[in-house]
Amino acid sequence: MSNIAIPTVPKIFKEAEDFLPLFGTDHVEFIVGNSKQAAYYYQTAFGFQPLAYAGLETGIRDRTSYVLRQGKITIILTSPLNHPDSKELSDHLIKHGDGIKSIALWVDDATKAWEETTKRGAKSYIAPTVREDQDGKVVYSGIHTYGDTVHLFVERKNYNGVFFPGYQAWNPSYKPSEVGLRYIDHMVGNVGWGEMNTWAKFYNEVMGFANIITFDDKDISTEYTALMSKVMANGNGRIKFPINEPAEGKKKSQIEEYIDFYNGPGCQHMAVATDDIVHTVGDLKSRGVEFLYIPDEYYELLFRRVGKIDEDLETLKRLGIMVDRDDEGYLLQIFTKPVQDRPTFFFEIIQRKGAKSFGKGNFQALFESIEAEQARRGTL
Ligand code: FE2
Repeated sequence: MSNIAIPTVPKIFKEAEDFLPLFGTDHVEFIVGNSKQAAYYYQTAFGFQPLAYAGLETGIRDRTSYVLRQGKITIILTSPLNHPDSKELSDHLIKHGDGIKSIALWVDDATKAWEETTKRGAKSYIAPTVREDQDGKVVYSGIHTYGDTVHLFVERKNYNGVFFPGYQAWNPSYKPSEVGLRYIDHMVGNVGWGEMNTWAKFYNEVMGFANIITFDDKDISTEYTALMSKVMANGNGRIKFPINEPAEGKKKSQIEEYIDFYNGPGCQHMAVATDDIVHTVGDLKSRGVEFLYIPDEYYELLFRRVGKIDEDLETLKRLGIMVDRDDEGYLLQIFTKPVQDRPTFFFEIIQRKGAKSFGKGNFQALFESIEAEQARRGTL
């Protein structure tokens, strides 16, 4: 008999099931207005390393894609060319601005992943498809999720090439160093009014994820604005997708602002993990990455709230890094400003020192900071 407490799962959710075993995130694809310049930005500002390229020079006529990698994080930056085959991408760009189209998941069997999820109600995006080149073959398939976002399932056990059939190695001489980003900790989706439970249920029933944490509008509200969130995670915990929806407040929720500018639901932020947040954030700042401002008063209360930590408080304050503690340890986190013209997608940098939570103790300060940004944009 085990006496380990098992966390209770709300009744509407089934336990996580493993009909969809996921090894991790395969890659994340952004549709952007100018992939050449976006690649320069992600190399220069975030230290992503060049990996692969597809475009006119490699026989691709409808789009240009740059693939970059840092640690286990692989991103694709894709721009449509003027070609009928890339109409979907052009439409995505006009409707949403720069943003994430695909969150691709690494699986052992892309055919089975597609069958199991579509059988449970997922809308197919791409039926299982094989792509081959001299380095082997990749099988991939895909389903729709919130808004125009999709999940691809990528099976690459029979592929030894640099990234994916159709891509060539991209090895420019310009290679700014990495900043210590290691893997994707979680990726957050913003959905519309009253849709959080619909999508939480989708991840539970269609993908076998469990609801590991719920934040209601009392957890996540300031004097003016509010939101609600459910964190969904797969069986091995490698994939975590919090789903946010706006909640009523005196002023406009940041989720509503996102949906207005993104023109629908979409990916709000990607949290990337580092083992040394002080070094990573110092480096990102020196390269021009802009972060949300956290007021000095936050740090006056910090020691009382989180107790003893390894990091120097003055350094955290100078860099604007926030700290939160839970039963298992603490975490350090910081949020960038949106990384494109529209106030939509941004990054979180996170370092976990035991804590498995999401920084609830920082929500107040964080959302007040976002409200200050909203006020400056005239969208509060
Ligand atoms: Fe986050």
